[in-house]
Amino acid sequence: MFRDSRINLTDEQVSSYKENGFVQIDNVLNREELEELRTCMEEVMNNHGGKSIQTSEDKAAYYKVLNQRVNTWRDHGGMARFVLSERLAGMADQLIGNKGVRLFHDHALLKMPHDSKETPWHQDFPYWPMKKPGALSIWLTLDDVDEKNGCMQFMPKTHQLNKLKAVSLVGGHDIFEEAENNGARFDKSQAVTVPMKAGSCTFHDGLTFHAAFANQTDKPRRVLAIIYMPDGTTFNGKPHITVDDLSLQQGKPLAGGRFPKLY
Ligand code: SIN
Ligand code: NI
Repeated sequence: MFRDSRINLTDEQVSSYKENGFVQIDNVLNREELEELRTCMEEVMNNHGGKSIQTSEDKAAYYKVLNQRVNTWRDHGGMARFVLSERLAGMADQLIGNKGVRLFHDHALLKMPHDSKETPWHQDFPYWPMKKPGALSIWLTLDDVDEKNGCMQFMPKTHQLNKLKAVSLVGGHDIFEEAENNGARFDKSQAVTVPMKAGSCTFHDGLTFHAAFANQTDKPRRVLAIIYMPDGTTFNGKPHITVDDLSLQQGKPLAGGRFPKLY
């Protein structure tokens, strides 16, 4: 059974994250923990009518990119053990310089087999209702991933840019062109492809450009992504699926029971 514990990152891992805007960390879950998380994810994906939110329906264009369920921790105690864990949140905290982190939300990200589409290049931060950047995501894979089933790609140093326009994941604009129009040229051939073993993860800054390959295999690619924000991150007043049912005041910190302090 998953027992929480701390992982101490090396100085190299932290400085690589700061320099490039992403980092790969191997073996954060062992075989038994991974099996437990797979079971929990299957249970939560098969459960309808709870508080988590399915953002795409079968056959919809978005579903071909991602079969996504947001805030699985609110419906499944087993998912909550991982999503709220010190092991995962503690790594996020070390990467942002030990400022303390809160949960923003989690999502199960499945790339389904057959008629799968790649996840286009984008930044995450423009989707989030936060005044300032600093939030980051863990992308924890439940399956071995490579270019054939939807592993991630990152463009180093793009986290040094500002917030650009939000890219639609179903036929949006080219973020590289937009960056170039803003005077920042990045060569896509310099992108880093990150194949990983199940139980390993990446962290990326909300401003880092990233994409994922389509899934050409006959099995789903299963990932748990968790978004962490530095404690004190404030609400910018914009709509978002995770705040729309709350009466939040613009300018106030995203805090309280829906955004618990984890580390
Ligand atoms: C994916 O899992 O395909 C994309 C994840 C992300 O955009 O953060
Ligand atoms: Ni993203």
